[in-house]
Amino acid sequence: VTEPDLRGRHVVVSAGGTREPLDPVRFLGNRSSGKQGYALARTAAARGARVTLVAANTTGLPDPAGVDVVPVGTAVQLREAVLKAAADADAVVMAAAVADFRSATYAAGKIKKKDGQDPDPIVLVRNPDILAEISADRARPGQVIVGFAAETDDVLANGRRKLERKGCDLLVVNEVGERKTFGSEENEAVVLGADGTEIPVPYGPKEALAETVWDLVSERLR
Ligand code: PMT
Repeated sequence: VTEPDLRGRHVVVSAGGTREPLDPVRFLGNRSSGKQGYALARTAAARGARVTLVAANTTGLPDPAGVDVVPVGTAVQLREAVLKAAADADAVVMAAAVADFRSATYAAGKIKKKDGQDPDPIVLVRNPDILAEISADRARPGQVIVGFAAETDDVLANGRRKLERKGCDLLVVNEVGERKTFGSEENEAVVLGADGTEIPVPYGPKEALAETVWDLVSERLR
């Protein structure tokens, strides 16, 4: 029996990967499936929360029952949706993989290759850092903010630095690997706390990591 410890709470979860368009048929994107974010949304709903799930390009995943799903495409759209939902939220969990950069230009027509010519370079501009923004400017006192970080090397040191840079309360660091993190049903992580805590979560279903995240959020909301 799941403890309804999030009853009366509004939580916001972002899931999936943003896509930054280059032209009507191409984009810059990443390998996030949305599964970790959906597991967070399902488990929060089961614990009694009202859940807003901001879902970036998660086609193929069914909407979790009783969850308010807001579909988005780009980082700028994800920011709008997260800021709106966060206004009255008790907690925000950013599991989405958000593109740090987008193309400076968008071609209204499909970009063509020109015979005998080198391709034009893609010029990038920075996207807003949503996690840093909502952490620096909390919509409500006591709002708990959780970030995620997918790292390939120096996982814990990079995670600790990212936690400090972003200013969130908790950062879930997961190492990119064959059968974890992007696209898989399983994950393995260490949850770093701004208070110096370090909670390892062993390899297992993404729901198990989600439950640990809500345990830690719930503790901080009490
Ligand atoms: O979707 P799945 O296939 O289940 O995979 C899950 C996952 C690997 C995508 C997820 O577990 C995860 O790690 N998500 C974060 C991916 C990542 O590498 O994030 P990052 O290091 O680029 O960003 C760190 C944090 O800042 C994240 O919480 C991100 O949402 C946030 N961010 C990043 C950039 C940006 N411009 N704005 C942000 O808010």
